[in-house]
Amino acid sequence: WNAAPDFADVMGQPLARRAMVLAAAGGHNVLLIGAPGTGKSMLAKRLPGILPPLTREEAVETTKIYSIAGQLPKGRGLISARPFRSPHHSASAAALAGGGATFRPGECSLADCGVLFLDELPEFSRDSLEVLRQPLEDGQITVSRAAGSATYPSRFQLVAAMNPCKCGYYGHPTRPCTCSPSAVRQYRSRVSGPLLDRIDLCVEMDPVAFDELHTSTPAESSADLRKQVLAARAVQARRYAAPGYEGVHCNAQLTAGQVRRVCRMTPAAERLLRASYDTLGLSARAHDRILRVARTVADLAGKQLLDEEALLEALQYRAQEKVETF
Ligand SMILES: Nc1ncnc2c1ncn2[C@@H]1O[C@H](COP(=O)(O)OP(=O)(O)OP(=O)(O)O)[C@@H](O)[C@H]1O
Ligand SMILES: [Mg+2]
Repeated sequence: WNAAPDFADVMGQPLARRAMVLAAAGGHNVLLIGAPGTGKSMLAKRLPGILPPLTREEAVETTKIYSIAGQLPKGRGLISARPFRSPHHSASAAALAGGGATFRPGECSLADCGVLFLDELPEFSRDSLEVLRQPLEDGQITVSRAAGSATYPSRFQLVAAMNPCKCGYYGHPTRPCTCSPSAVRQYRSRVSGPLLDRIDLCVEMDPVAFDELHTSTPAESSADLRKQVLAARAVQARRYAAPGYEGVHCNAQLTAGQVRRVCRMTPAAERLLRASYDTLGLSARAHDRILRVARTVADLAGKQLLDEEALLEALQYRAQEKVETF
């Protein structure tokens, strides 16, 4: 439960930094793709530092889970920091889901109200990735054993990181990639499908340029970014206090019907979305995902209507195309 490290330490990577702010502001899941040493793990570890504080209700829920798991530090009151869990890719499906003879909560539940960070995403077993489906869909996880079943809350925000290929250098500007095209395809296919469907924000990260590492302009700190996040969260809290939004706390949780109601666009934005829908061959799901992200962009900017700028930005973060085609 140490204080999270600061975003000011991350040089360059403007798009990935921005994606982390959007993720914190709208509750979106993120996938970072990049060569080794570009700052993926650095960014992921800094997310908890810009998230809104736990509500009292969340603190009680989190404390309960840690208590059941036998992981509550002695002599402390309610847990006050959002959990950050980063299970190793060798973690079994059971370790992620929980269960066992005593029905201990797993990583998915220990990350409830916080962040589940899956580094080296394609290295997780298929079974382990499969376990994520229910919590990503329902915010809870049911573990059944011969002795019965238990359901635990597991509403976490997923942050995943991966290299673009097995060797890590596919698409690198200077270092050659040693993977065959079919090896690249196979590596990426491990994370296709239902998981990608749940990712609103995907960013491909370039290597940091030398000059970016040595710039004298300081990067924005976590404190600065957190202010933006909290302002955007306040806008959402007001909007979703209205009837018809029960259980919705942030834009990522909007249902299809709700998306239609809260994502009103300027005429130019609507034209842009229509054109992109046709030319990119977007699915209805991708369409809604873009609108949720655009809603968060507009909330950060303090705008009611989604404008062209918000749509353009949201269109950059689609995951499916980045992972499945290359
Ligand atoms: N954008 C950056 N700004 C400043 N330092 C960086 C940046 N990216 C990487 N570094 C330095 O490189 C180290 C490794 O970065 P990090 O662990 O985030 O890389 P990664 O992208 O997760 O790589 P891998 O694919 O190997 O996991 C950091 O501890 C830091 O010293
Ligand atoms: Mg890493």
